[in-house]
Amino acid sequence: MKEQTIMMTRHSNSSSGGNNQVVMDIDESAAAAAAREGGRGGGAGVVVGGLSPLSETLWKDTINNSYSHGGLTIGDVSARLTWKDLTVMVTLSNGETQNVLQDLTGYAEPGSFTALMGPSGSGKSTLLDALSSRLAANAFLSGTILLNGRKTKLSFGTAAYVTQDDNLIGTLTVRETIRYSAQLRLPDKLSRSDKRALVESTIMEMGLQDCADTVIGNWHLRGISGGEKRRVSIALEILMRPRLLFLDEPTSGLDSASAFFVTQTLRGLSRDGRTVIASIHQPSSDVFELFDRLYLLSGGKTVYFGQASEAYEARLLSFINNATQKNIRLTVPFRLTVYYLLHYVCSQNTRLLLITLCYMQFFAQAGFPCPPLRNPSDHFLRCINSDFDKVKVTLKGSMKLQFELSDDPLEKITTAEAIRTLTDFYRTSQYCYSAKEKVNEISEVKGTVLDSGGSQASFLMQAFTLTKRSFINMSRDFGYYWLRLVIYVVVTICIGTIYLDVGTSYNSILARGACASFVFGFVTFMSIGGFPSFVEDMKVFQRERLNGHYGVTAFVISNTISAMPFLIMITFISGTICYFMVRLHPGFEHYLFFVLCLYASVTVVESLMMAIASIVPNFLMGIIIGAGIQGIFMLVSGYFRLPNDIPKPVWRYPMSYISFHFWALQGQYQNDLRGLFFDNDPPSLIKIPGEYILEYVFQIDVNRSKWIDLSVLFSMIVIYRIIFFIVIKISEDVTPWIRGCIARRRMQQKHMNGNQTTTVAVAPYSLTHSPSLRTYVDDRSSNHQTSKSRLRS
Ligand SMILES: Nc1ncnc2c1ncn2[C@@H]1O[C@H](COP(=O)(O)OP(=O)(O)OP(=O)(O)O)[C@@H](O)[C@H]1O
Ligand SMILES: [Mg+2]
Repeated sequence: MKEQTIMMTRHSNSSSGGNNQVVMDIDESAAAAAAREGGRGGGAGVVVGGLSPLSETLWKDTINNSYSHGGLTIGDVSARLTWKDLTVMVTLSNGETQNVLQDLTGYAEPGSFTALMGPSGSGKSTLLDALSSRLAANAFLSGTILLNGRKTKLSFGTAAYVTQDDNLIGTLTVRETIRYSAQLRLPDKLSRSDKRALVESTIMEMGLQDCADTVIGNWHLRGISGGEKRRVSIALEILMRPRLLFLDEPTSGLDSASAFFVTQTLRGLSRDGRTVIASIHQPSSDVFELFDRLYLLSGGKTVYFGQASEAYEARLLSFINNATQKNIRLTVPFRLTVYYLLHYVCSQNTRLLLITLCYMQFFAQAGFPCPPLRNPSDHFLRCINSDFDKVKVTLKGSMKLQFELSDDPLEKITTAEAIRTLTDFYRTSQYCYSAKEKVNEISEVKGTVLDSGGSQASFLMQAFTLTKRSFINMSRDFGYYWLRLVIYVVVTICIGTIYLDVGTSYNSILARGACASFVFGFVTFMSIGGFPSFVEDMKVFQRERLNGHYGVTAFVISNTISAMPFLIMITFISGTICYFMVRLHPGFEHYLFFVLCLYASVTVVESLMMAIASIVPNFLMGIIIGAGIQGIFMLVSGYFRLPNDIPKPVWRYPMSYISFHFWALQGQYQNDLRGLFFDNDPPSLIKIPGEYILEYVFQIDVNRSKWIDLSVLFSMIVIYRIIFFIVIKISEDVTPWIRGCIARRRMQQKHMNGNQTTTVAVAPYSLTHSPSLRTYVDDRSSNHQTSKSRLRS
């Protein structure tokens, strides 16, 4: 409530245009949040509104399909997620299996912020992955995950996943980043002003208005801070108003103030009727107090799961009762007074503090009370992080530290024992019992099938927006093309001065050959320099693709079109300098062929590097592989070894025909030499025709037109782009499928050999596999149809 008020106040001071709708958007959210605060969260199945008019537009289909059942209005778009006996098993490369998560049961409700905590390797990310259907190919899950009481695959618009890495385009401002993302996904029918209002409201919601016009930043541009970047990443995912938000360590790497701000924002988002689940590493006490519910994991097992907000008063009372029973008898009027104070007088923060006391109560009951003045989250992690054992042993071993006797129970037992005590205590505690009760209660209510349909923009809109965004990025990133233009100009001036006015003397024959070979070999080779920028692009693409923002085709087309003007500019400028300084074969047609051939060659290199980037997304490895491939292509181009002398198997056929240098040189030699006459040696002898040199010196097939050579180059561009497309598709669908099959086979073999490790709790055949992106997209369309027809009937 407080956050909403702050947003409204902030907004009323704002003077930016087109904001009337933003006011509406936020007012509605605030009103809905107020209604919920008053209504204490609403019961299962009851409409939890909280949708602004704009969000309603996005969720209209679902709302239209709502229907009444058993007196409950089912059709609200809130997300109630439950997981029961969730086990995730992974297969390791040696064929062993390992249970990463074991029998986890829990739930997340709309309007609540659930934090997953635990030491490194405890399974936080795996739990998030399992809940959001993103498990790796070698991971198998068993158990039940229900969304609104139904087994559903989460659609991109329904659930959003914010990963730990902020893969953003460094040259765009915060507002541009969010605006382009909106254009990529919002339905075309939504008016420009509506889209703008949604963007502005998202900026405000995430508290980004102060840096809205600052660039994100990259290696040469100083941009926004790490905390702001994290908030931009979250803003991009909440644009489509997902009802369920997963975040993997949103506060890692941030200072305490930024971490607090990010967590406060997430809490604010949850108060808008969304279900927020985030894994958090070592929170400060301020951050810790913002959690509604805590899921504490260790070694894939539940150490603690609580606290249902409705129940905290009762637990608090029992805590007060336990703590003070020796001194004070809590009478009924006293209890009622506490209850009254909690409900109506205590501020939100005081209530949160009291909830924290409840967590601490669990640890105290289990025999690990939090020492005074210790941050509770530090204490919890201290109890369950076995790395502390290693630290203790190392320090003791080094004899540098004298251990003092203390009352801390953790000093007396190992962490493994502490974990065992805590997990056993939890399993038999009222917390576990009430969690299971609640899971059963939520699972019984069959709510709305949530599916916003993911990205709702048309293909053309996506391709157009991506092209525009990519063009702006290329024009602002100095390292993408501008630096290359400078180098190309410098290098071609060097070529021009070295081969200046090469002429038609006897010596110029080989000089022309060497010049062409250098231009089409080394100059095109320099295109490799744009690879790091392209890898950055690929990272953004992969994040957006994984979140279903757009398809591979739109990306490939947009990248090709947006790069075209820059490549044309670079090759025409440098080609023109080289052509006129060297004075190659005069005539417009010859000039045009030369620059077109240069353009085609540079674009082929670009396309080749794109295909490499899709296989090896590491820029150092990519450059090495790209350089190696081009080196081999250059060797068989017909200059360093004449075509007829190249060894026939492998090198002549097929390598020289695959090499684009070969086709470029064949075309350019013809373009340059055919029709010219060269001095003989001595010059008094008959002049040598260019055709003769082509056939007998450079061993060129003179019967083939140079334009055919050029068209082969252009078709290579298309082929490499298709390879790029296919590689991405393969890595998306086929690779996980193959990995899954291998993992399954390994498990079955182990199973048959009777060597199954004792840690495996379930038979491999009962496990379900995490779906691939393709399966998901296919399933989604069929599910969507089925659910619509079911609702209609
Ligand atoms: N696909 C997988 N294949 C093999 N092992 C896996 C796989 N996924 C997770 N694991 C293992 O499961 C354990 C839990 O991993 P997970 O990434 O979920 O931990 P985490 O709690 O998120 O840790 P951190 O805080 O360091 O991010 C680790 O030991 C990890 O090596
Ligand atoms: Mg993790």
